[in-house]
Formats: sequence, structure tokens, C-alpha cells
Amino acid sequence: MKIFAFAGSNSTSSINKKLVTLVLKSFSDFEQNLIDLNDYEMPIFSVDREKFGFPKEAYQFLENINKCDIIICSLSENNRNFSVAFKNIFDWCSRINPKVFHDRKMFLMTTSPGGYGGGNSMNLAKNIFPAFGANIVESFSLPKFYENFDESKGITNDALRLELNQKIIEFKQSLK
Ligand SMILES: Cc1cc2nc3c(=O)[nH]c(=O)nc-3n(C[C@H](O)[C@H](O)[C@H](O)COP(=O)(O)O)c2cc1C
Repeated sequence: MKIFAFAGSNSTSSINKKLVTLVLKSFSDFEQNLIDLNDYEMPIFSVDREKFGFPKEAYQFLENINKCDIIICSLSENNRNFSVAFKNIFDWCSRINPKVFHDRKMFLMTTSPGGYGGGNSMNLAKNIFPAFGANIVESFSLPKFYENFDESKGITNDALRLELNQKIIEFKQSLK
């Protein structure tokens, strides 16, 4: 099984990438393709620009999804919404193929330094991703990232660590 993984952030110190990287450790027996949104930077989408064609990065992003069996991602939250970096990729890709996520099973996460853990991005993704071909099997939000996450230990809050581990188990069971 091949995993396509990404954080919905172009920050070089992305906390969402740290969360994705942690979860990928539980999938060490899977083939993993963790990408960096900076490698998919494109002009800001516009209906005028798309008349001249689509950036190769948009095709490459879609190809990553096409080639994978499952998607593991964690979306950041800026002003209660997706990051511009992710939204731009999403917009370009959706114009090539509205079924951006190719019906792949998705482990969807969010985290932020705040107590809501990127819950607005989570709610938004839950509302709209299925219309773009996402099969969201499990979801997890990590609140107060800097209080609940340690670089070497992972999630330090017992209840949150148990919740995540249980969801990972259930996600793996869904793949059988
Ligand atoms: C412009 C801006 C807006 C933000 N808005 C929110 C927000 O609405 N909700 C939230 O929980 N965090 C917000 N944050 C804090 C981000 O969650 C925080 O920067 C986090 O590290 C972003 O995830 P990343 O490190 O994976 O990029 C905002 C940060 C910036 C720079």
C-alpha cells in the first residue's frame, strides 16, 4: 500500500508536518510519499491564467494522489481557513479534475497552537472534501500543539495520544 502524505502548509517549521511525520511512523510498513507544498508553488489561481494552461505542479500533485492508495494529511489554519499555499494547489487541481482526491481513503488531521486545534479547517475539510472525491475514514485534531507535542516523545497528553492511536488502529482496519 502506498501513502501520499502532506501538511497543508508551506512553513519550513510546519507543526502540521510534524504531526503527519509522527503518524507516518505508525505506517512504517507502507510505502510513503511525504511531499512539501513548497515544491508545488504555482501562480495564484485565476480564471484568466488557466486559459493559458495549467502548471505542471498541479498535474504532479494529482498524479501523486492517483498513484497512492491512501492519503494522510494535516491541514493548517490561517484566519479560520486553509492556508493560501494549500488552497492555491486545491484550486488549480480542482480545475483539472474536480475529483481531486480520487476516492482515496483519507486520514485527515489538523493542529494549531490554539485550543481549537485547527477545528475550522477540519470542519471546512469535512464539509467540502467529500465533494472532491475524499473518503474521510478517520479524523483527528490536536489542540495546543506546543503544550501537547514533544519532538522526541510525540503526543504527551495521554487522552489525545490514546485517541490518535485508536484512530490509527481503526484506519488500518478499514484498509483490510
Ligand atoms: C495569518 C495567520 C492566521 C492564523 N489564523 C489562525 C486561526 O484562524 N486559527 C488557528 O488556530 N491558528 C491560526 N494561526 C496560527 C497557526 O495555526 C500557526 O501559525 C500554525 O503554526 C500553522 O500551522 P503550520 O505550522 O503547519 O503552518 C494563524 C497564523 C497566521 C500566520
